Amino acid sequence: MKKDKTELKAPILAKGTAAKAKQDNLFSRNIIAALDIGTSKVCCFIAEIKSHGTIEVIGIGHQASKGVKAGAIIDLKAAETAVAHAVESAELMARSQLQGQPIRSVFVNIPGIHTLSHQLTVGTRIQGEVTDRDIRQALQQSGTVAAPGKDELIHIIASGYAIDRQRGIEEPRGMAGQQLDVILNPVTALTASTRNIATVVHQNHLEVEAFCATPYAAGLAALVDDEMDLGCTVIDMGGGATSIGVFVEGKLIYSSAIPVGGQHVTSDIARGLITSLNDAERIKTLYGTAQASGMDDTAMIDVPPVGEEEHSQPNYVPKSMLGNIIQPRIEETFELVRAKLVDSGINQIAGRRVVLTGGASQLPGLCDIAQLILDKQIRLGRPHRIKGLAEATGGPAFSACAGLLHYAAEHADEIPVAPQAYGFSLPVPFAGELITKVTHWLKENW
Ligand SMILES: Nc1ncnc2c1ncn2[C@@H]1O[C@H](COP(=O)(O)OP(=O)(O)OP(=O)(O)O)[C@@H](O)[C@H]1O
Ligand SMILES: [Mg+2]
Repeated sequence: MKKDKTELKAPILAKGTAAKAKQDNLFSRNIIAALDIGTSKVCCFIAEIKSHGTIEVIGIGHQASKGVKAGAIIDLKAAETAVAHAVESAELMARSQLQGQPIRSVFVNIPGIHTLSHQLTVGTRIQGEVTDRDIRQALQQSGTVAAPGKDELIHIIASGYAIDRQRGIEEPRGMAGQQLDVILNPVTALTASTRNIATVVHQNHLEVEAFCATPYAAGLAALVDDEMDLGCTVIDMGGGATSIGVFVEGKLIYSSAIPVGGQHVTSDIARGLITSLNDAERIKTLYGTAQASGMDDTAMIDVPPVGEEEHSQPNYVPKSMLGNIIQPRIEETFELVRAKLVDSGINQIAGRRVVLTGGASQLPGLCDIAQLILDKQIRLGRPHRIKGLAEATGGPAFSACAGLLHYAAEHADEIPVAPQAYGFSLPVPFAGELITKVTHWLKENW
């Protein structure tokens, strides 16, 4: 049974004013926490941001996910329990740095499948040189730009400026012209998704510090600066979904997802070889390969038949059969990704570099198929800028969780609402429309 958080932490909790002083001390030490609620696993990282900006992970907790399907929470109680265990393990590991205090809030991912990215250009007339006031005025006009209604705004990224239609300006202040345009890339999320995730977090006596779209987080962790600047697509291949993020000139300009992931490969194997999902998962990670061709037809694998007694004889099937089952699903995945990029008109702008990450990117032969279908240069990526991750937790499955820490430490200016706003103890902002949120963000930031 899931315990109340105070009960859970009772032996190490200090009380009263001493506890408050300790907690304040904790936050003055820049301790942040990330929570990735995935289809296959729930993961919590607690980290300290050092004075020189390095992020050092001090607590890690992860465990098999429950109550989540294709990125969506389908059972609040089961998800709450999985989150409780992951957070508790991370807190336990970071116990001495946390000085016995529980964490109070987390940065949480929103599955790419529940997010939508937009592009807005807002403009204003300028007299002579661009001033702070001109920028403020241009941004405030975004309130007049039509945008979809009831979704929740989770990122507002100013991706560039143009003066008299000359694009690509990074710092417009002091430049001469008549018309200033600001290009914004807001990302919105399904309100139902943010609400359910906030409920799960809140039930664990935590607040949502901010939401971050999964492909954004994965990109922040797995891409190098040059890739982000020159144009790169990150593809986070998870259990229930494959998320897509496009970065150009250091900014996320597009995010999307398709509802196909590693679990689909596992169920294809289970159906094709008539075995259980658990055995199919084991067979996939042990012998799986994304390419059917070039496999030795004589190599056999043993497949326990589904529903039979433990002592019954396994079936022996050629290893090549496994490739024949997996390859079509992988091809379908990359074809769907390509269709997303082409249909959105982003494919050319995205450049020729693709980084594959996420747990399901670990199938041998994946890069070759991705290269053929996407016609881009492919590499595998994992979190690479964070200290304190062990071999087991530094792999591609942990990119999104690590990226949440980067988002918290380096992109706080893109968080559109006051941090505490997602706690239910405060007025709930979920009914707000994108326009209201943009205007709010602009007032706060400019
Ligand atoms: N060595 C491996 N080879 C192939 N697939 C693997 C391997 N290890 C893990 N996977 C697959 O990776 C998937 C889980 O990846 P990940 O942990 O990134 O998912 P998630 O974040 O929980 O899910 P999602 O992002 O879709 O909500 C599972 O389908 C699992 O079978
Ligand atoms: Mg994931």
